[in-house]
Amino acid sequence: MIQCKTSKEIGGMGHSLKRKEDARFIQGKGRYVDDVKLPGMLYMDIVRSPYAYAKIKNINIDEAMKVPGVIAVVTGRDLEKYNLHWMPTLMSDTQMVLPTDTVMYQAQEVAAVIATSKYAARDGREAVRVEYEPMKPVIDPYKSLDADAPVLRTDKEGKKDNHIWNWKVGDKEKTDDVFAKAEVVVKEQMHIPRIHVASIETCGCVADYDKVNNHLTMYMTTQAPHAIRTVIALVAGHVGLTEEKIRVISPDIGGGFGGKVPVYPGYVIAIAVSFLVGKPVKWIEDRSENLQADSFARDYHITAEMAGTKDGKILATRFKVLADHGYTDASANPSKFPTGMFSIATGSYDYDATYMECDAVYTNKPPGGVAYRCSFRVTEAVHAIERITDRFALEIGKDPAELRLQNFIKKEDFPWKSPTGWIYDSGDYHKGLLKAMDTVDYHQLRAEQAEKRKRGELMGIGLSTFTEVVGAGPSKDFDILGIKMFDSAEIRVHPTGKAIARFGTKSQGQGHETTYAQIIAEELGIPAENIAIEEGDTDTAPYGLGTYASRSTPTAGAAAAVAARKLRDKARKIAAYLLEVSEDDLEWEPGKFFVKGAPEKSKTIQEIVFASYTNHPPGMEAGFEATHYYDPPNLTFPSGAYICIVDIDKETGAIHVRRFVAIDDCGNIINPMIVQGQVHGGLTQGIAPAMYEELIYDEAGNILNGTFMDYLVPTAVESPKWETGHTVTPSPHHPIGAKGVGESPTVGAPPAIANAIVDALSPYGITHLDIPITPFKVWKALKEKGAI
Ligand code: CDP
Repeated sequence: MIQCKTSKEIGGMGHSLKRKEDARFIQGKGRYVDDVKLPGMLYMDIVRSPYAYAKIKNINIDEAMKVPGVIAVVTGRDLEKYNLHWMPTLMSDTQMVLPTDTVMYQAQEVAAVIATSKYAARDGREAVRVEYEPMKPVIDPYKSLDADAPVLRTDKEGKKDNHIWNWKVGDKEKTDDVFAKAEVVVKEQMHIPRIHVASIETCGCVADYDKVNNHLTMYMTTQAPHAIRTVIALVAGHVGLTEEKIRVISPDIGGGFGGKVPVYPGYVIAIAVSFLVGKPVKWIEDRSENLQADSFARDYHITAEMAGTKDGKILATRFKVLADHGYTDASANPSKFPTGMFSIATGSYDYDATYMECDAVYTNKPPGGVAYRCSFRVTEAVHAIERITDRFALEIGKDPAELRLQNFIKKEDFPWKSPTGWIYDSGDYHKGLLKAMDTVDYHQLRAEQAEKRKRGELMGIGLSTFTEVVGAGPSKDFDILGIKMFDSAEIRVHPTGKAIARFGTKSQGQGHETTYAQIIAEELGIPAENIAIEEGDTDTAPYGLGTYASRSTPTAGAAAAVAARKLRDKARKIAAYLLEVSEDDLEWEPGKFFVKGAPEKSKTIQEIVFASYTNHPPGMEAGFEATHYYDPPNLTFPSGAYICIVDIDKETGAIHVRRFVAIDDCGNIINPMIVQGQVHGGLTQGIAPAMYEELIYDEAGNILNGTFMDYLVPTAVESPKWETGHTVTPSPHHPIGAKGVGESPTVGAPPAIANAIVDALSPYGITHLDIPITPFKVWKALKEKGAI
């Protein structure tokens, strides 16, 4: 049996959390999409392209149609008749649902086979014969802008190159001037590799169109059910599927991490087929399809520069980025931010000159990129600033911890306006780093390293002291496809004092069922186990933008607190009426109002709620319900100080992560156990691109590691013992002082690991290695430098 302490015992907020609540989080409470089985359900499988770039000459379905159980094969030409062969991406680009004439990347959907069983659908898929005329693809993003590169998006009228957009921010002139005059300038070229969200559950859906009532129920693995409903209505409204006739149900999800925000072609095809045949259609990707064809993450080529003084004052940074988006820009970014929150790349340091620029290009690779456990490109930004900061420290021979302590924005300078315009809400960076240094006994480690270096042994200490930016909205700046980014909570308390609360977000295992109940329990004094939490059903939950980019606590968590406070205000009025005193004579303690100076005269929240249905004050609306759509005044800015210690075997390049200490600051913590779980998982997803994961393509666009045999997702075996801790700097604008946490460790870990490895190798003149840093890369670099 799992032994869990109460929230109070573990020091979190909310006094009423019992073991049962924790168990609800651990076990989940619903079913997954693959468990949905409906009468007459059909199964769909997808024919995929073996080529990265090819003309489709012919699709022969004759043999497939002979396979017992196969009832239809759908091609792009079929969808074209209904104008459903293209769809918009979240970045307002366009993406093929099924191609009519050209495939643009290996594993792209070419046709869909519909059958009475999944086995028949797979057999049918194997029997479809497609004739291709292969063309030379564009794989290297640097070559995609060459004058002789083929123009890939010929579907876009007048398009003459593969350039998508140019983005810039900062003061170029001022920054160039600081660089020109600086005593020290360092520069590194970095690639943040194309990686993939490897959630345990792949993507899938059951599209169930009811012809009689002209109603679609869509069970799907989505992190943003309401936004998806709106997108379906926008794409299929012209064939009669308007928004009130669509219900999206996102049941329990086996991991999302950003990969389940986009609309994939499989969803649209399943809806189209169900609409045409009037039967439910199930589509579940297999593991390789998920890895090879779904939206990728990262793939930023960054030139990072830092200017400063010889004694370590950072004066300016410059970042030039080339973003490889594959054949369409299907990023899940807010519309005004094509590079997401990359402009947080100025980091945790106090200086005022920066200039950043990004060019995005098309290539023959799968489209993306998703915000993989990351607030829209923060991972790339943090890697760039934390690596170049270490490079600067190395250049001037200063300890990287000392350099950071010298340059940190000071606690008293918050709220702090960054050179790219963000208003950091709060932070205490010195405290975090000093705590991390104390935990590892930093100075002792440096002494040990010096000794080892004398003996030619390789030991490295890497730091990452990052600032995160999470919680989109505010809606004035953030929208997706025009839909403003806020989030919502609706609390309904039943006459006997038990409640149900519904949200516009959607947990994928982050434990919202527990933490939202805690927030309401804390505000209203109703025990958390008496509060049911529901998300993911567009017919019942209030409209919201979903869960990704660590936005749930900053937005829906805040909405829960504000909605509960509306109810507490109503409760005060009812208590005053019942106790026959003025509202001003009442005092609140979680769970009851009592008369000041006469605590025996009180009304519990349960008595008050009962009265709201049975004996409410004349003129007052009956019932005990409140809804709040929370539009945050600002983002929240969590931070972290991470230290990684590595030992490297010189002869083989093998890297051993000896210790990894992560001190996070996410403001007030709602549930320490959940936060610790978030940090452990995030760190593991941080070590992944640092040491193991990268999607690799050859010149022909073939993916070279399209299965888990070759794409190395770290397991418990590869993961070091994560040592976690925290500092608490509340957000001044969030109703309960909380900031998001889910993605901090994924963002902060890779540069800590890379910095540790480069630190170990630096005596041999190695100043940078691109992640993932494998033993072979280390060995090769040492060999090239003549160290072995
Ligand atoms: O949007 P997402 O749920 O992925 O991210 P989050 O807001 O960072 O929250 C992840 C989990 O950690 C949720 O269950 C939060 O309620 C919990 N959390 C917490 O207990 N205390 C915080 N200060 C932040 C998050």
